[in-house]
Amino acid sequence: MRQKIAAGNWKMNNTLEESVALAQALVDAGSPSGVLTILGVPYVYLDKINQIVAGAENIEVAAQNAHQELSGAFTGEISVKMLNSIGVKYVILGHSERREYFGETDELLLAKTNTVLGAGQIPIFCCGEPLAIRKAGTHITYVIDQLKNSIFKLSAEDFSKIIIAYEPIWAIGTGETASPAQAQEMHEEIRKAIAEVFGNEIAEGTSILYGGSVNAANAKDLFSNKDVDGGLVGGASLKADVFVQVMNGF
Ligand code: 13P
Repeated sequence: MRQKIAAGNWKMNNTLEESVALAQALVDAGSPSGVLTILGVPYVYLDKINQIVAGAENIEVAAQNAHQELSGAFTGEISVKMLNSIGVKYVILGHSERREYFGETDELLLAKTNTVLGAGQIPIFCCGEPLAIRKAGTHITYVIDQLKNSIFKLSAEDFSKIIIAYEPIWAIGTGETASPAQAQEMHEEIRKAIAEVFGNEIAEGTSILYGGSVNAANAKDLFSNKDVDGGLVGGASLKADVFVQVMNGF
């Protein structure tokens, strides 16, 4: 059975006080049985929030990015070694906001993925197409190419550790969600492509999350699809009562 995952991506939101209250409320609610909850926390709060979730079963924190080098003169950047030193086990990589606003390419993301895996951490690797590509009907090729140019170049052993998040850019923060059928279609294609490169066993074992305007009302319909193993949730992960409903959407 694949791991069911409810992941939140807090992005650049909330004060320390708000973040602590949010994490504490989620710890109090608890991760539903059989569900792994992962919180994508801003760097400055990672250590603190990790300590809050430490006692809770199946709740982990993720960094929202990491640098590809292990150390050095990279002012303002954060390394996997630093993340390891505070016990962070998951790292979101390749979010469309990183790709679009910070120029992260498939090639750079492969380097980051290798660094994260080398540190013994698990990447949550994002992919997804812009609206124009969806409208042109070439979204499947576009997304599979993103994977071919990055994580499909890993060894099978390394690839098998990865979590994938499919996040169509047109659905991020827009309130417009991919329909359950659109999500299922892409997830099935991604799984098929994984099977072609790495074989059936790895394809069947890879958790593929959907992201893009997931909320309390639509989580169940999305997560009930056979190839949708959970969600990567932005806005709806910032309110404890809403995110708890998403966590219970399996
Ligand atoms: P929203 O859930 O706010 O659309 O954001 C999705 C996302 O980008 C998660 O990484």
